[in-house]
Amino acid sequence: MITVNGLEHHIPETLYETKLSTWLREDLALTGTKIACDIGVCGSCTVLIDGEAKRSCKLYLKDVLGTQITTIEGIAGEDGTLHPLQQAFIDAGAIQCGFCTPGMVLSALALLMINHHPTRSEIRQALKGNICRCTGYQQIIDAVEMAAKHMYP
Ligand code: FES
Ligand code: FES
Repeated sequence: MITVNGLEHHIPETLYETKLSTWLREDLALTGTKIACDIGVCGSCTVLIDGEAKRSCKLYLKDVLGTQITTIEGIAGEDGTLHPLQQAFIDAGAIQCGFCTPGMVLSALALLMINHHPTRSEIRQALKGNICRCTGYQQIIDAVEMAAKHMYP
């Protein structure tokens, strides 16, 4: 069994060697999880596994049996209200093409769950495995700072 965004999925043995990133996108249609390098370098496939940010292209389903997974589709409110991190990325202008954004947001969320008031340096450290080809990173750091202030005033 694997739980994704609160829904349980039975995993037959025939899927054990399927990559988590591929399963999320192709079987569950959760295409917010992006695949770019597919070798664990860029961070665009990041999801939360039991609250920790992990690269889903480096994991097979057999590696994550029994876990709770959160994808970018799972963090907004049920009524569609964006998560404060998603809203902050918009407000700070931290998105250009948007390809890196789901991974950035989930890595930032993993940080904010354990550190409610991170410094800019701690934010940089937490996001160092997430590559953005567009923004130059400053607005991304601004967005995470903004979200932290909103979430933990
Ligand atoms: S696609 Fe997984 S780290 Fe790049
Ligand atoms: S916004 Fe384009 S890769 Fe980050």
